[in-house]
Amino acid sequence: MQSQNLDKQKEKKFKDTSWDFRNEYTKSSNHGFHTYPAMMIPQIARRLIELYGKDKKVLLDPFVGSGTALLEATLHKNFKKTYGIDINPLALLISKVKTTLINPQSLWDEYHKIIKKSLDDKKNKKQFQKPDFFNIDFWFKPEVIRDLAIIKQNINTIQNKDIRDFFLIAFSETVRNVSNTRNREYKLYRMNQEMLKKHNPNTSKAFREKVKENIYSMENYVKEKQNCEVNILAEDTRNLTSIPANSVDLILTSPPYGDSRTTVAYGQFSRLGLQWLDYSRDEVINIDKICLGGIPTKDLENGLGSPTLKKTLNKISKLDSRRAKDVLSFYVDFDKCVKELHRVTKKGAFICFVVGNRRVKGIQISTDEIILELFQAKNHYKHHNTFIRNIPHKRMPKLNSPTNKSGNHAVTMNEEWIVIIEKQ
Ligand SMILES: C[S@@+](CC[C@H](N)C(=O)[O-])C[C@H]1O[C@@H](n2cnc3c(N)ncnc32)[C@H](O)[C@@H]1O
Repeated sequence: MQSQNLDKQKEKKFKDTSWDFRNEYTKSSNHGFHTYPAMMIPQIARRLIELYGKDKKVLLDPFVGSGTALLEATLHKNFKKTYGIDINPLALLISKVKTTLINPQSLWDEYHKIIKKSLDDKKNKKQFQKPDFFNIDFWFKPEVIRDLAIIKQNINTIQNKDIRDFFLIAFSETVRNVSNTRNREYKLYRMNQEMLKKHNPNTSKAFREKVKENIYSMENYVKEKQNCEVNILAEDTRNLTSIPANSVDLILTSPPYGDSRTTVAYGQFSRLGLQWLDYSRDEVINIDKICLGGIPTKDLENGLGSPTLKKTLNKISKLDSRRAKDVLSFYVDFDKCVKELHRVTKKGAFICFVVGNRRVKGIQISTDEIILELFQAKNHYKHHNTFIRNIPHKRMPKLNSPTNKSGNHAVTMNEEWIVIIEKQ
């Protein structure tokens, strides 16, 4: 395997298909609790931890999403502490639930109570509180709304917060699966009339199956989890975080691919689930605006220390200066994160980024090189390797719509770049 001979490599950036993990199962342990856009596959996190986590004790994922890297760290004997940061409340809840040990028997007890109560409520036509959010009837059929509302009411009666959150995650996953959305897409598109006619989901069954599946996973996690403290932070990696300076010795993360208007809309993906979890429309709509690059820059001047970015922006702006500003806004925000990551890491820390090099106006943006240059502009950072892998798995279509219009597709990302940097 190429990665076992790292020091023998002269060429630092190369294709290594052993990182593809083609046909491998990606939902082991608690990894299958909830889908999330552009999830990292556990095998990548696991191998990076094995290669670069030797003698390391504190891991940070500054764009934690659904918590893949954190969950893997809690399964590894080295790590004593982990931090995960995100601005999306759904990501924070998923990460928390996936890494929180709960006695499976308590989960089974609650499961039996909730399922029985929900069936009785439905049979007895018990009054239920229909959530009051914009367009609920557009996204859900009336009988689905009734069943979800009954389940949600019963989940709310659970006293223990960790157990309640566990059920809320299964509930949120069910919401998406029984909604009128076209399910394999991460942006919100409604089914067409023909699909809608055939769409008659059994909401209670979908919820039951999801909860059972997650409890089975928890039964294994209880046996596998190591003694590792998990800190999930509702903070913004662009700003000063609550993580102490010089405390982190491994960063393992996959940041957004670009601004959420033209790449992955995390807020849009999370909207229905969060609204059912009582988040207000404003809170939910804001997620995409506060993601990296959420607000376009006004001009193309920037003091960022990346020659690759400068060259790329020049090319794009000749074709479309507005799009060039979109691109720049993402890297301006990214550079703020680099500053914060520089503050929190120890000397000798490894920094592992899994990134996509997207195309804008036909021009490929080498984010792997830009990241390296932004770190090196801050201080002494050594480039170890960049592995290029194919993407066989990600919930991230190979066909992307750069204009945000359904059906208007251009080929974007089939590969990812895994960049390894060491702080000197
Ligand atoms: C590619 S996803 C991470 C996926 C994750 N590796 C997983 O396996 O699920 C990127 C994440 O960055 C988050 N994000 C965007 N801007 C952020 C910011 N300024 N601070 C912290 N997180 C941010 C998004 O909400 C999203 O969850």
